Amino acid sequence: MDEFFHKNLKPVWLLSNFVLFFFYLLVYKGSNKKYKEQNLKDLQLRLGFLGTGTITNAVIRGICKSDLKVNSIIISSRNAQIARKLSHDFSNVEIAKNNQEIVSRSNLLFVALRTQIAEQILKSLIFHKGQKIVTFVPTTTCAILSGWVDNVVPVLRAVPLPFVAEHKSATPIFPADADLRKIFAKTGGVIEARNEHQFNLFMIASSLMGIYFHFSGLCDEWMQDRGLAPKQSSLYLATLFLTLSDEFAKQIPIDFKALEQKYSTKGGTNELIISAFEEKNGGKALKSALDEAFYYITKKADVDL
Ligand SMILES: NC(=O)c1ccc[n+]([C@@H]2O[C@H](COP(=O)([O-])OP(=O)(O)OC[C@H]3O[C@@H](n4cnc5c(N)ncnc54)[C@H](OP(=O)(O)O)[C@@H]3O)[C@@H](O)[C@H]2O)c1
Repeated sequence: MDEFFHKNLKPVWLLSNFVLFFFYLLVYKGSNKKYKEQNLKDLQLRLGFLGTGTITNAVIRGICKSDLKVNSIIISSRNAQIARKLSHDFSNVEIAKNNQEIVSRSNLLFVALRTQIAEQILKSLIFHKGQKIVTFVPTTTCAILSGWVDNVVPVLRAVPLPFVAEHKSATPIFPADADLRKIFAKTGGVIEARNEHQFNLFMIASSLMGIYFHFSGLCDEWMQDRGLAPKQSSLYLATLFLTLSDEFAKQIPIDFKALEQKYSTKGGTNELIISAFEEKNGGKALKSALDEAFYYITKKADVDL
């Protein structure tokens, strides 16, 4: 029996083990939940956008003003005014009849819908293999959105800002992806978050735009209440903040404490304002607002810390 096994069955046994192992690599490892970078197979970028609002407008303008080769861009008719203007300004932008047409004709689909309606719209659409979804929706993790589309296509996240239209802001993405890298490298730069927790931190940092203008507005208001004309105060603040931003972009890594000291004369008014601000818990208020925003976007999420 032993001899029979060695002569006749052992090669079959070895071969079947090899086949099983190969199968394991192909199926089990291949279906590993972690996203592995996949280049779009046909090397064509056929972009689709669900929702034609502020951010879609900016991303498309940024792409079309760059030298990136994009085969087609298909957009929704909502918002009608923005959609008409985009298709008028760029020959490769086309307005679809409905959302399903956008999904069917794109291989990279951007979800630029407001949080409140994204789930309902995505659940009503049919997706196809070979397609990737990129969501701009801040409160939705990759896992949640995957569930809305029956896990049929990979889901990525990006947080572009309106300044991508002028190639002036970097876009955080997660997970790493060659096609997204290619696109956002052309519109101001790409930042690859290492995990979804990091991505959410960038997401919150991108929400500092409002408070930045709120802070600037408060300073402006204070100056005008005490006697300056709007033109004088706003212009002065605009040039001051522009110069300060230039200053800190000069050094990498940026040492904010050192900059604070460099621009605060000992015993002077800069130092006085910082200490009055901290005495009144200004720093604490800002950090707790950031914590609140972080909780707001992650509370429903299964985030890996
Ligand atoms: N703006 C930013 O700086 C920014 C930055 C990063 C991420 N985001 C996120 O990106 C998403 C989009 O933001 P946004 O600022 O571009 O919002 P937005 O300007 O309000 O655009 C959303 C668009 O979706 C359209 N829409 C509504 N129902 C639709 C439907 N059934 N089918 C297709 N389109 C529909 C709206 O059209 P109508 O106007 O006709 O209703 C609107 O034009 C949000 O989740 C936002 O949080 C925004």
